[in-house]
Amino acid sequence: MKNNQNTVVPPLKFFNATFQPSNLVSLIFFFSFGLCSGILLTFQLKNVSFNLLFNELPLSTTTTAAAAALPPPPTQKMRLEDFVHPSKLMHHMTDRELIWRASMVPKVRKYPFHRIPKVAFMFLTRGPVLMSPLWERFFKGHNGLFNIYVHSSDSSSNWTEPKHSVFHGRSIPSKEVEWGKVNMVEAERRLLANALLDFSNQHFVLLSEACIPLFNFSTIYSYLINSNKNFVESYDLMGPVGRGRYSRKMYPIIKLHEWRKGSQWFEMDRDLALEVISDTTYFPVFQKYCNGSCYADEHYLPTIVSKKFGARNSKRTLTFVDWSKGGPHPARYNRYDVTVQFLEKLRSASHCEYNERKNQTCYLFARKFTTHALDRLLRIAPKVMQFNP
Ligand SMILES: *[C@@H]1O[C@H](CO)[C@@H](O)[C@H](O)[C@H]1NC(C)=O
Ligand SMILES: *[C@@H]1O[C@H](CO)[C@@H](O)[C@H](O)[C@H]1NC(C)=O
Ligand SMILES: *[C@@H]1O[C@H](CO)[C@@H](O)[C@H](O)[C@H]1NC(C)=O
Ligand SMILES: *[C@@H]1O[C@H](CO)[C@@H](O)[C@H](O)[C@H]1NC(C)=O
Repeated sequence: MKNNQNTVVPPLKFFNATFQPSNLVSLIFFFSFGLCSGILLTFQLKNVSFNLLFNELPLSTTTTAAAAALPPPPTQKMRLEDFVHPSKLMHHMTDRELIWRASMVPKVRKYPFHRIPKVAFMFLTRGPVLMSPLWERFFKGHNGLFNIYVHSSDSSSNWTEPKHSVFHGRSIPSKEVEWGKVNMVEAERRLLANALLDFSNQHFVLLSEACIPLFNFSTIYSYLINSNKNFVESYDLMGPVGRGRYSRKMYPIIKLHEWRKGSQWFEMDRDLALEVISDTTYFPVFQKYCNGSCYADEHYLPTIVSKKFGARNSKRTLTFVDWSKGGPHPARYNRYDVTVQFLEKLRSASHCEYNERKNQTCYLFARKFTTHALDRLLRIAPKVMQFNP
């Protein structure tokens, strides 16, 4: 740059040499001329020096410049793969944009690729997935048959899953969730919408950080894939914690006799998941009138699934929870609760229907387990549930 400044000087020197006090007009003329050419030169030289700088740089820059001129390598082109199986879960879409995008259904029903149906395991958590070491063992060896999604409402928590973990990079853009509030259902719909972006996901399971599996992966996968029903618990309950939570302001869109209650923890197929995220009739009514002690997460899905999609619903949940102790929260399981007998009981001591036949396998998941139970679960569960060795 120093050299460039020097080259600007000669015109000024020339001006000085031809200076005559009597000729004011020439003075002004030469001054303006000098000023203008000075400005012009400075700009032009700046460009020159810029170009020079680039040309002087080592080979790498020239190759970059050359590469920019060439067509991009094949990997940079949009692939079908990127569209049907998005690998990065973080995005800048708002909820409205995401739901609109996720609600799209291919009109050509035959897939132009070999589609292996996957199960989307959707974790709705406060912080990290507490039972993740057990889930790691559960998922091991089953890549290609599942996808994990984590909605963590605690934005202040500072944790990242290690690179080798199945949970690594599986967090979705999340928002705050308050217990019993309608934003809990908004989070569930957000999880569904994010999971729907991957066209291979066929079944959608909602789980909490305190949930554990009760069977190995292959058993759970085939139970879900072969079921002809969805698992959204739904029942009509009289009294204050049932119909008592209905608001008359919901009429006539939702009538009292249509009001249902059920567990928040659901399993549903792709068709129902699409219907749920695309619901613009009933959800706004819940957003508006199911506040206070209404607990939308226990009523929204049970009510709309029963009202609109009841024929393909089993009305039961696959997630075991023990409410027998009473109160607003279910029983928690600690270290000494975890025994072989206890797990076997959860696995088979129930009666239900599966594909119109009597069956004893009614629960595939259970909650609520604390981190104190983890050690024993890791020792006992893989044997009881016959995880992959
Ligand atoms: C998160 O943790 C890392 C390392 O443990 C630390 O360097 C970083 O400052 C923390 N960030 C916040 C926002 O607390
Ligand atoms: C619920 O929302 C309605 C309408 O926004 C409002 O009138 C009512 O006071 C709210 N109730 C509670 C308990 O927050
Ligand atoms: C319950 O359903 C599973 C999954 O189809 C099946 O393997 C099992 O045999 C059934 N059990 C009974 C008792 O019918
Ligand atoms: C899963 O468990 C079932 C019995 O519940 C067993 O027959 C099967 O071999 C196990 N699968 C794997 C992959 O270990």
